[in-house]
Amino acid sequence: MRKIALSIICLGLAACQSASTDNLEQRTAESRAVTMEFMTTLKGELQTAMKAGGPVNAIQVCNTRAPAIAAGFSEQKGWTVARTSLKYRNPDNAPDAWERKVLEQFEERKANGEDPQQMVYTEVVEDKGTKNFRFMKAIPTGPVCLACHGDKIDTAVEARIQEHYPEDRARGYKAGDIRGAFTITQPM
Ligand code: HEC
Repeated sequence: MRKIALSIICLGLAACQSASTDNLEQRTAESRAVTMEFMTTLKGELQTAMKAGGPVNAIQVCNTRAPAIAAGFSEQKGWTVARTSLKYRNPDNAPDAWERKVLEQFEERKANGEDPQQMVYTEVVEDKGTKNFRFMKAIPTGPVCLACHGDKIDTAVEARIQEHYPEDRARGYKAGDIRGAFTITQPM
């Protein structure tokens, strides 16, 4: 009886709820906040560089700034913060088995009509005795992305991409496609 009464009280108390779930909601909220800031920072720098010197100039933002921003968040939070994709440009961004499964689920969810803008997946994953909270958030393709990830890529841009990423797979996207995802691992 007591247990039932307590859980009824808990229904109305966020603090109670998070205590009983190892703050999974807080972990999710913090992960979301990091991906939002990552996205805003990167998009801002990308647009500034595009305006200043077009996509050829902006490649350096994605090439050097994206990994640097990710590394900065990883250090600040004590997590692993990165970007990944089923069709990646940088092999360092290749998904692991868990990430691949989630990216495939995102594609299925999109095919079933869900908006990639809101798509998130979280799971507590245990691997060889280590427990991690893992978070992924889909990254939709916007019109601004097509200069470097679309069907028709300018020859100068293409040459520069080829130079840095000879095995590039991150092309042929259309606006609205899922370009990839942010991926966060929080040790528990
Ligand atoms: C100026 C060219 C350029 C534009 C515009 C651009 N990207 Fe990229 N993108 C790149 C490069 C270069 C990389 C490889 C970065 C690296 O080395 O980690 C990349 C990598 C990525 C990755 C990591 C996975 C992978 O393929 O390696 C994601 C996700 C991504 N871009 C999403 C986007 C989205 C979303 C947009 C639009 C908002 C966008 N990009 C616009 C050039 C661009």
